[in-house]
Amino acid sequence: MTQHELSAISVDLPIVLRLATENDLAKLEWYGQYRHYRNLFRRAFREQRMGRRLMLIADCNGYPIGQIFMQLRSAKRVFFGDEDSAYLYALRVMEMFRGQGIGTRLIQQAEVLALENNCTWATIAVAKENNGARRLYERLNYHVYGDDPGRWSYLDHKNRVRQVNEPAWLLEKALNKSSDLR
Ligand SMILES: CC(C)(COP(=O)(O)OP(=O)(O)OC[C@H]1O[C@@H](n2cnc3c(N)ncnc32)[C@H](O)[C@@H]1OP(=O)(O)O)[C@@H](O)C(=O)NCCC(=O)NCCS
Repeated sequence: MTQHELSAISVDLPIVLRLATENDLAKLEWYGQYRHYRNLFRRAFREQRMGRRLMLIADCNGYPIGQIFMQLRSAKRVFFGDEDSAYLYALRVMEMFRGQGIGTRLIQQAEVLALENNCTWATIAVAKENNGARRLYERLNYHVYGDDPGRWSYLDHKNRVRQVNEPAWLLEKALNKSSDLR
C-alpha cells in the first residue's frame, strides 16, 4: 500500500460466459459509454434469435463486463469449397477487468460456439492502430490475410447516421476441434 491508500480488501468475483438475454441490452451500453450502439445491439439480438448472430458476454454478478459478438456464416471471406466462417467482432472488456484473461476466454468460447454452428473458420477485423488487440489475436493463432478500409455507417440511439472510418487488418484462423476449450 502507498501512503495515500487507507485500506485494502480482496474480492473474488465469478465471471460466467453466456449468451446475452434481452435484459442485458441496456447494460451493454455500459452506463452511456456505448449508448450510440443501441440500435446495433438490438439488431444483433434480433439476429441471435434467428440463429444468424451470437452475442457472447462475460457476466459478473449479472452485469456484462465483457463481450464478443459473432456473425455466423459471414460473407466476409470466401473460403475453399463449402466451408463456413464466423466473423467475430465487438470484443471489449471493461478497463478494470483487463489483463486477466477474460478477452482470451471470450475469443476461445466464441470459437467453440462457431464450431458448434458448423463454422470451420473464424475471421476478425482489428483497427490498424490497435497493436495490443492484434497481438492478442496473433497469440491465439489468427493470421493477417488482408486489410479493409473499414468504412461503414450505422444509426445511433437518436437515429442519426454515424460514419465510421477505421482501416483494419483482417485476420483468420482455421478452427480445430482439438484446440478449443473442450
Ligand atoms: C482487447 C481486450 C478485449 C483484451 O481483453 P483482456 O481481458 O484484457 O484480454 P486478456 O487479459 O485475455 O489479454 C490481454 C491482452 O490483450 C491485449 N490488449 C489490447 N489492448 C489492451 C489494453 N487496453 N489493456 C490490456 N491489454 C490489452 C494485449 O495483447 C494483452 O496481452 P499482452 O500481455 O501481450 O499485452 C481489451 O483490452 C479491450 O476491451 N480493449 C478495448 C477494446 C478493443 O480494443 N477491442 C478489440 C477490438 S478488435
